[in-house]
Amino acid sequence: MEDSIFEPYLAMKAIFKKDRDILRPSYIPENLPHRERQIKQLASILAMALRGERPSNVLIFGKTGTGKTATVKYLQKEVEKAKKWSRVDYLYMNCEVTDTQYSVLQNLGNRFIEDFDERIPFTGWPTERVYNMLREKLDEERRVVVVVLDEIDKLIYKSGDDVLYHLTRINEDLKKAKVSILGISNDLKFTEFLDPRVRSRLSDEKMVFPPYNAEELKDILGQRADLAFDDDVIDESVTSLCAALAAQEHGDARRALDLLRVAAEIAERNNENKITDRHVLRAKNQLELDCVIEAVKSLPTQSKLILLGIIMNEEMGATRMTTGDVYSMYKQLCRRTGMSILTQRRITDLISELDMLGLVSARVKSFGRGGRTKEIQSSVPALETRRVLERDELLSNVKNFRLKFQTTLI
Ligand SMILES: Nc1ncnc2c1ncn2[C@@H]1O[C@H](COP(=O)(O)OP(=O)(O)O)[C@@H](O)[C@H]1O
Ligand SMILES: [Mg+2]
Repeated sequence: MEDSIFEPYLAMKAIFKKDRDILRPSYIPENLPHRERQIKQLASILAMALRGERPSNVLIFGKTGTGKTATVKYLQKEVEKAKKWSRVDYLYMNCEVTDTQYSVLQNLGNRFIEDFDERIPFTGWPTERVYNMLREKLDEERRVVVVVLDEIDKLIYKSGDDVLYHLTRINEDLKKAKVSILGISNDLKFTEFLDPRVRSRLSDEKMVFPPYNAEELKDILGQRADLAFDDDVIDESVTSLCAALAAQEHGDARRALDLLRVAAEIAERNNENKITDRHVLRAKNQLELDCVIEAVKSLPTQSKLILLGIIMNEEMGATRMTTGDVYSMYKQLCRRTGMSILTQRRITDLISELDMLGLVSARVKSFGRGGRTKEIQSSVPALETRRVLERDELLSNVKNFRLKFQTTLI
């Protein structure tokens, strides 16, 4: 083995002790630090179900990464443990995936149908028939069914509140079974889009999951780091730094865990045997870049052209552009790509949108005698952004295009 080219790698200690999934959002740890109060409160509501009664419907609100999904999945395990003495079905559903009335009812119905041939098909039945099948199957036994609708706001925005109307009044049609709903949302405003009757039925109880502070995030990370790494592969300051960075944003545990996981992956990729603060800072940059790239990818083509123009102008040395500069190079790019040219007013709006997304910065600048203009700069890394933009087929023939350079001096 001595001369093997693999030797240095084999001699090294692995960064991850066990599987790296421990740091992924889907992993549910044995206990959830700093969610004891919320778990207790939900348990007291769900305890009704174990006694055979219908628990209140509950709506949970909280920003991303505040442990909402982890908490309801944790409770699912607990309910399943308690199942020996009672008939409770705890059905979890993510409404970002299951996002229509039909698919929600179909999905729920099929959980009570064992025989494959009897299953409700993915499409094709009238909704009424799906609902009736669900009701019939539910009511075959005396049981309490807790339906967890995670990301419920996505369902409402996509498909309206009909499905909640049906689900919250289904108990009137049931003789043996009882159904209660636990809805989860990142967005406090979505209830404004509900029919008042649905809203009041759905929110017997409301809970808010507050963002975590840096100390709390540190505990959450510490628990995971102990599972994922041996002590000697991680600097002591690493979890504090990840926690502090995530707390600066909005106290998002997912963000904190992402920082830790990516930092570890960077250390691993560079064949280093210890995760340090330096890796965390690089992880931060990488995650920010991933975010920018996602935002750029999903822009409408006209906005992509504007952004591309700004970047191309900057590559030729322009640092600050006026709206007029941006418009003139935008027009050149439209001619080149064969896209229709929008009005300058419309382009001004699209620039403001890019500004709001944080992809460009547009500051109003006044100069003598009451003149005002915008000073526009890109806020994205040019090379990576350009690479993403050029992948758009509609923009492919700007690759080797040179803009006619003319900017106004501000
Ligand atoms: N109190 C906690 N203890 C341990 N891990 C947590 C806690 N809160 C959140 N997490 C972890 O953070 C990540 C995001 O949490 P999640 O429950 O998906 O957030 P939300 O559903 O509110 O957006 C998951 O990996 C989850 O396991
Ligand atoms: Mg969630």
